[in-house]
Amino acid sequence: MSSAKQSIALIGFMATGKSTIGPLLAQELEFELIDTDALVEAEIGMSVADIFSQLGEEAFRDAEHQALKKALSIKNRVISTGGGMILFKRNRKLLADQAFVVSLSAQPETIYQRVKDDDTRPLLKCQDPLLRIRQMLAERQHYYDACDFKISTENWSAEDCCQKIKAAFYLKYNE
Ligand code: S3P
Repeated sequence: MSSAKQSIALIGFMATGKSTIGPLLAQELEFELIDTDALVEAEIGMSVADIFSQLGEEAFRDAEHQALKKALSIKNRVISTGGGMILFKRNRKLLADQAFVVSLSAQPETIYQRVKDDDTRPLLKCQDPLLRIRQMLAERQHYYDACDFKISTENWSAEDCCQKIKAAFYLKYNE
């Protein structure tokens, strides 16, 4: 492989399929899978929800940045990032410089259906989660659009998404 960018980073809003596609893609490429939320939880020894409620979002975002740096320090990885990773310039720069960035997307209604019975996402704990999803997506969309490859996880199966991502990655970096 000719480029220094030998890791793939999955970005995208909560519940767009990063945790489903990440393991499949890692298996397919024989890359190691790193999930930055899981890395933060392991480093701090608390769940993401507890970090938000007990230490605050800023503490989470700092730990998330450290987790990204650690994830990128070794090549040949599939890095699954939390939905808010791209909110910070420090993270966007690291991702753009060091990874093939793949953006996963889904419609707000689909995201809502996927998260409505899940209490692990502190930012969606509110009276009207669908409205909140729409608002957050509108605020973040331009960051999710800044990527090397974009795919909707609604139009394709996880396996198809994986094959398309793999093809795009090899097309760009494996000539
Ligand atoms: C967040 C997304 C979550 C997690 C945290 C904040 C966000 O990750 O990092 O709750 O700001 O969108 P997932 O995208 O894996 O749910």
